[in-house]
Amino acid sequence: MKEINIGIVGYGVVGNGVAKIIEEKTELLHKKSGVKINLKKVFTRNWNKKFPYPLSEEKKACSLEEILEDEDVHIVVELTGGIDFPLRLITDSIRKGKHIVTANKALLAEKGKEIFSLAEEKKIRIGFEAAVAGGIPIIRALREGLVANRITKIYGILNGTTNYILTKMFQEHRDFSSVLKEAQELGYAEADPTLDINGTDAAHKIAILASLSYGGFIDFDGVYIEGIENIDSLDIDLGRELGYTLKLLAIAKSHNGEAEVRVHPTFLPSEHPLAKVDGVFNAVMVEGDSVGETMFYGKGAGSLPTASAVVSDIVDIAKSIALGVGREIEITSMNWEHKQLTLT
Ligand code: HSE
Repeated sequence: MKEINIGIVGYGVVGNGVAKIIEEKTELLHKKSGVKINLKKVFTRNWNKKFPYPLSEEKKACSLEEILEDEDVHIVVELTGGIDFPLRLITDSIRKGKHIVTANKALLAEKGKEIFSLAEEKKIRIGFEAAVAGGIPIIRALREGLVANRITKIYGILNGTTNYILTKMFQEHRDFSSVLKEAQELGYAEADPTLDINGTDAAHKIAILASLSYGGFIDFDGVYIEGIENIDSLDIDLGRELGYTLKLLAIAKSHNGEAEVRVHPTFLPSEHPLAKVDGVFNAVMVEGDSVGETMFYGKGAGSLPTASAVVSDIVDIAKSIALGVGREIEITSMNWEHKQLTLT
C-alpha cells in the first residue's frame, strides 16, 4: 500500500497534537484505515522555541518551499490562523496539486467561495472537520451521517471561551471581566479574545455549518452577530431566578431557500439540553426532516481534541488517494452549489 506523506504548516497547539497523533498512533491509524500516513515535514517560522511535542531535526522545514515543492507531499495541513497568509498558502498548494486539511474557520467562512471553486477546478479535496466545534465530528455528520435529511435547523454552543465565561458567571455569581481574566490565565481564552467574546468566532463556525446544510455560500457580512461583552451579572442572576440560563447561541435555519444565520446571547429554560453544557464544551443540535432532532457534544478546542478532527480528514483524504478512487466523485469538499444563499 502506498504511503501518504503529509506536510504541516504552523506548529502551534493543534500542530503539535497532530504530529503526536500521527507519529504515536501510526500503527493504529494503519490498522483502522488501511493507509500508512507519514509526517514528512513541518514548517513554522521559529524553531528556537520549546514545543510540547518536539520533532526530530529531519522533519523541520526551514522554508515553505520544502513542503510546497516536494512532489512526495500529498496533503498540506494548514494550521496557521489569520486570513491572508493561509489563503495564499492554500491556493498555492492547490495549484501544485496538493490536497488540503485546514482548521481555519475564519478563512473558510470569509473566503470559502474562492477556495472551494479553485479546489473543484483542480480536483483537489479540502478537509475542514476541525474548523467547527473542534473534536466533535459535526462536518462528517452533516455530510455523511445525516445525508438523507433536509436540515431544517442547526443551532448550538460553538465557542468554548464564551461558554466558560457564562458558566462561571452563572455558577459563581461573578462579573464578566474577572472571569475573562481567569480564562486567559488558565489558557482557555486567547491572549486577544476579541473574536471569541464579540461572537465572530461562533459566527464563522455557524456560517460554515449553514453553507454545508443548505447548499450555498453565505455572505458573512450579512450574518447578525452579538457577543457577550455587554452581559451584566445582574442579567444572569435575574434569568436564574426565573429558571433560565444564558448561553451564546449560534443559529441557522432555512425557510424556502433563504437562510437565517445569527449569533447572540439567548436565555434558555434551565432544563434545555444546551443549558446544561458547561465550561469549554461545545454542543450542536441538528434537526433533519427524516431523523428529527440530534445532539452532538464534546470538546470544541484544545490540542488533542482538535488534532483528532484534523487527523480524521488526513486519513479520509489519504484513503481516497491510496485507493485511487475516481477523483471526480471525490470532490466532496463542501458539496456547495455555486449559489449565494439569501440571508433573512
Ligand atoms: N477560541 C475558540 C473557542 C477555539 O473558544 O471555542 C476553537 O475554535
